[in-house]
This record gives sequence, C-alpha cells and structure tokens, in this order.
Amino acid sequence: MADAEIGVIGGSGFYSFLDDVTEVTVDTPYGAPSDSLFLGEVAGRAVAFLPRHGRKHHLPPHRINYRANLWALRSVGVRQVLGPCAVGGLRPEYGPGTLLVPDQLVDRTKARAQTYLDGVPLPDGSVPNVVHLSFADPYCPVGRATVAAAARGRAWEPVEGGTLVVIEGPRFSTRAESRWHAAQGWSVVGMTGHPEAVLARELALCYTSLSLVTDLDAGTETGEGVSHEEVLEVFGRNVGRLREVLFDAVGALPATAERTCACADAHAGWDLGIPLP
Ligand code: ADE
Repeated sequence: MADAEIGVIGGSGFYSFLDDVTEVTVDTPYGAPSDSLFLGEVAGRAVAFLPRHGRKHHLPPHRINYRANLWALRSVGVRQVLGPCAVGGLRPEYGPGTLLVPDQLVDRTKARAQTYLDGVPLPDGSVPNVVHLSFADPYCPVGRATVAAAARGRAWEPVEGGTLVVIEGPRFSTRAESRWHAAQGWSVVGMTGHPEAVLARELALCYTSLSLVTDLDAGTETGEGVSHEEVLEVFGRNVGRLREVLFDAVGALPATAERTCACADAHAGWDLGIPLP
C-alpha cells in the first residue's frame, strides 16, 4: 500500500500540517527535497506534508528543488497535490485574506529547472525522450472545485478562477512590473507556483493551488509596497482556516483509482523514456 495518496506542500508561514506524523527522508534522482516528508492521516486519507521552503524557511523560492519535491511525493504514492502559497493581490478587491483558486498560470520565472524531460540521463541510465505535454489548463478541475467547496463550507468565499503570475523573486515586483501584471488582467502574483504545477503535470499528478493573498502588490498599493514581515503576519493570521479548508478538501478528494480528470492521462500518446516513481 502507498504511504500517502494526497500531498500538501506548505508555503511561507505554513511549516507543519498534522500533529501525529511519521517523518521520512526521501532521496530522488534530482537530489534532496526541501525537507523530510511528514506522513499522517486526515479524514481517513493518507497524506504527505512537505514544507516547501524547509521547516525553518531556509530556501528562497528560486533555490527550492521543485523537481525533487514533486518526485519525492509521487514516490510515496501521492497522486493529488494541494499547494497553498502566499500571493500578492493585483486588484484592489483581492485584499489580504482573499483565497483565490486560480485556473490559469503565467510563468515569469527566469532560471529554474522546470522539466524532468530535459534529455539528461537519470542515475539508472534511462534517458528522457523529447516530449511536449499539454499544459493549456495547468490545474486540476476536480481539485479546484473541491477546494472551493471546502472553503465555502468554512464560510470563506473563495475567488474561483483567475491567473497566478509567478515571478522569479526573491525580490518583490517594482510598481511598474506590478501595474503591468495587473494591466494584463492577471489576478495575483507569487514566487513558487511555477514550476510546481508543470512538474506535477509531468508526473501525472493532480495539482491545485490555494493562493492566499497576504498583501496588495506594489502597483495596487499607495503605501510602501510589500514587506516579507507583512506576508508572514497575514499568512499567520489565516493559517488556521487554511488548514481547516485543506483538511476538508483532503477528505473530499476522490480516491486515487477514482480520478475522473485528465491529469492522470497527461502522458497519453507519449513515451517519457524514464520510469516514474
Ligand atoms: N508572495 C506574497 N506576496 C507576494 C507579492 N506581492 N509578490 C510576489 N510574491 C508574493
């Protein structure tokens, strides 16, 4: 039996999820993940929690080994991933405390390993083929609906849909960048949503982002701009209800064998050339 079926990747200000856990260290062909995996149970479902930045927040967004993180989760059996993250709002109405469940993603990162399919042999000698997977819809529709329903069930009306633009960081955006992001019609800005979502797709995992707005981004704001203290403070204030929503969503996600979305068939028609864990 798999150790876990659902993965939760906690972001800034979210370093632990469950009280009763078994800590396991996992190595991957891509190196070590951000931290140990913490295995536990929620609503009868086996869950693996991974603090994205490490439990002591020692990894900035551009230093996170996203490939190792997703690979490690899949290797313990995870097939559906919930990814809470802190984001800045790009519209005045998306103020701190807004929970947005995006349906689109824009990648404005610059220097991150964002594919397993890069032609580089794995330690077992297998070589990834040239593969072009569909990523038109980057998020799992079932996961998104499940999270939105869970939030509503906790009287936290989510914004359903919208575009998360992911910047390289670790600095926040200039006002000009922020105004430009907003002018494109994008909704929120973060630093970790990419390549997490695309790597999940390459591993045929369902992936859902829970984007928690911690601040209005620089172009939306008239004050001093964003500070890291503000992000952590607002995240800390919301982490309790975010955990409740995650618990409810975990309990409501379909069993691995009963997934009806297309995520599990992401590789249809392609031979990746490498064995997935
Ligand atoms: N994470 C939280 N707030 C952010 C912002 N304004 N820009 C980028 N990432 C963020």
